Amino acid sequence: MTAVTATTADTFRPALHYAARNTWLNDPNGLIHHEGVYHLYYQNNPRDNVWGNMSWGHATSTDLLTWTEHPVAIACDEFEDIFSGSIVFDRHNTSGFGTGSTAPLVAVYTSAYKTPSALHGVQAQSLAYSLDGGYTWTKHPGNPVLNRGSADFRDPKVIRYESDAGSYWVMAAVEAQDFEVVFYKSHDLKYWELLSSFGPANATGGVWECPDLFPLPVDGDPENLKWVLTVNLNPGGPNDGSAGQYFVGDFDGTTFTSDTTVTDGLQDPDRLAEYQWLDWGRDYYAAVSFSDVPDGRRLMIGWMNNWQYANEIPTSPWRSPMSLVREVSLHSVEGSWRLAQLAAGELAPRAGQSPSFSLAAVEISEGQRVLDGAAGSVQRIEFTATPGTAEEFGLIVRGEGAQGTRIGIRPAEALIVVDRRESGHTDFHESFASIDAAPIRATDGGYEITVYVDRCSVEVFAQGGRITLTELIFPAATSTQVSLYASGGTATLTSLNVTQYA
Ligand code: FRU
Repeated sequence: MTAVTATTADTFRPALHYAARNTWLNDPNGLIHHEGVYHLYYQNNPRDNVWGNMSWGHATSTDLLTWTEHPVAIACDEFEDIFSGSIVFDRHNTSGFGTGSTAPLVAVYTSAYKTPSALHGVQAQSLAYSLDGGYTWTKHPGNPVLNRGSADFRDPKVIRYESDAGSYWVMAAVEAQDFEVVFYKSHDLKYWELLSSFGPANATGGVWECPDLFPLPVDGDPENLKWVLTVNLNPGGPNDGSAGQYFVGDFDGTTFTSDTTVTDGLQDPDRLAEYQWLDWGRDYYAAVSFSDVPDGRRLMIGWMNNWQYANEIPTSPWRSPMSLVREVSLHSVEGSWRLAQLAAGELAPRAGQSPSFSLAAVEISEGQRVLDGAAGSVQRIEFTATPGTAEEFGLIVRGEGAQGTRIGIRPAEALIVVDRRESGHTDFHESFASIDAAPIRATDGGYEITVYVDRCSVEVFAQGGRITLTELIFPAATSTQVSLYASGGTATLTSLNVTQYA
């Protein structure tokens, strides 16, 4: 067991993000809203704080902000690890797992078979069901229910597809090494029939994992629905390592057709910036959405880590937080479509909420200006600015002396950057000290950025959440200053509001 000891100064444990008490986690699994409760299951090593013994951990929340950890929901055994998957509420008991008036929750997960299983080396899809609202689970004796004999067939996301022609279950899963999302259909969650496949397309610099498929109204118009296919890949992200891309198009119950494919077949590494990314930062992976959220809202969570250095981040006894829960919407932009993501639930800025620190209309002069009264390590910073002569300008968070994480705009290069080279502990892995960039253009001549700082992370939502960058940082506990900075000239701050959460 690796150093799973309680530390007295767990300065990196997030206040606004979920992390397991004293174990490892990776992908969010089985996200569902059921009987008024949000359930977050996740890839968990119940016995250690590095990857292994993969099982489904479990936490619940009613406000998407505070989470209660529960006992392991679905545990690995000597034959199989329980890899990623999803949960559906089988309200009409199509699976037959229900009893009397109790309809089951059904988990569809990947069995990663180990020796001594006869299926050793195979990944296939299996079921478990819960009759007590998601707290205890029974594996289906007929597992696996879908086996292609493949070593890399995983991460089933099941949705209920409803149309005039009938309704049925649709599974999106991956053939990870082939850069393919495969779609299956079922009436009972047990017998699955192949529908079609999608890919390779756009980014293929790493295995495809953890797909999701959901409809969204364009610009809020319920008469104009488009389908979004998300797929995570590792490595091959826009700033290296793990990342998630998405395609916008149509799904007719059989086939997904993308309107946003730039490269069919294998990727052109020079075109990464043209693809659609769920997040441009280094630490937003395996993102999937909740089922059955009321009012048609689409909420997603990503794992806030990167396989490049995931097992080495300097936290103890826990390792890896989840991202904030994000509400996702779809917008038409110059003949194409773009997702926008904003922090969901209690974190969303609320009317009448007064910030603890504000600043209005001031020049951001060359150099760095510490903002007295704005310091913090768990805070939301809302920043709007217009460019001037500066080559780069923006905010430095979690700063003190030479330490700090820069979030900057480079107007001439049309880039937003997060620079964590001086963010604190970086030497635990050679690829951690990074400067990461995403394309950005001014809207109405300006830039709008909301940053959530939470002890070991910055989550940046720019231009109404159309660009997001999520990054882990490991600063000294005393590095709490917020500064404005500009280099090579000046810019103009139009507003700044800081809300402290802890
Ligand atoms: C993604 C992933 C999945 C797999 C799981 C195993 O991070 O590799 O494809 O199901 O993690 O923990």
